[in-house]
Amino acid sequence: MTIVIAIDGPSGTGKSTVARGVAAALSLPVLDTGAMYRAVTLAALEAEVPLDDAEACAAIARQCVVTLEDGGVTLLDGRDVHAEIRGPVVTAAVSIVAAHPPVREVLVARQRAWVAEHGGGVVEGRDIGTVVFPDATVKVYLVAADEERARRRQRDELAAARNVAVEEVKAALDRRDAIDSGRTVSPLRPADDAIVIDTTHLDVDTVVADVVARVRAAEASR
Ligand code: DC
Repeated sequence: MTIVIAIDGPSGTGKSTVARGVAAALSLPVLDTGAMYRAVTLAALEAEVPLDDAEACAAIARQCVVTLEDGGVTLLDGRDVHAEIRGPVVTAAVSIVAAHPPVREVLVARQRAWVAEHGGGVVEGRDIGTVVFPDATVKVYLVAADEERARRRQRDELAAARNVAVEEVKAALDRRDAIDSGRTVSPLRPADDAIVIDTTHLDVDTVVADVVARVRAAEASR
């Protein structure tokens, strides 16, 4: 039986950390779909295509080869771009590129192919439970208080040697949330059958244990 675990939610809610923990506990591979949108955005910036041109961005998405390796390394046409795709330039542009329906069409097909090839997995993103895998074994939608999300993102920035004020991080998150939630195709929202978990005051192990227990219960009832 193929197990697919969908982990969606806005940034700073703990999706990546929870996805990795659940994947380790269940010996499943993990797919970070945000990294795919980020890599295509980097390719579009490098090709200097106008980011508001949906077809031009989709052409870039079709041409480029994005490889996600174990351990979080992302390759764009064979080049390691894992640090670059987390930088401020790509972060500021990615929601614009990800809002284009033809870009999403290309990447959603690749995400489904990846899961088929790997025989299942933990898939992290924004539309995994609603669009990419509507029949996922378990769907989780993580939320957290805005201030806590901003503090977590600020810590990530510091870890990458970027010192950014928390207010600035919060403003950038608000901008990205507005575009991700307001787009017409695959907007950020919980699936009707998703389990919503507020991670503001929870540690990672508690959230991982909760999700793993739900996966085991879902498997046992099939
Ligand atoms: O998870 P992240 O911050 O790396 O995602 C980067 C952007 O990509 C985010 O602003 C929204 C977009 N995204 C998306 O639209 N759909 C997904 N499945 C994953 C990410």
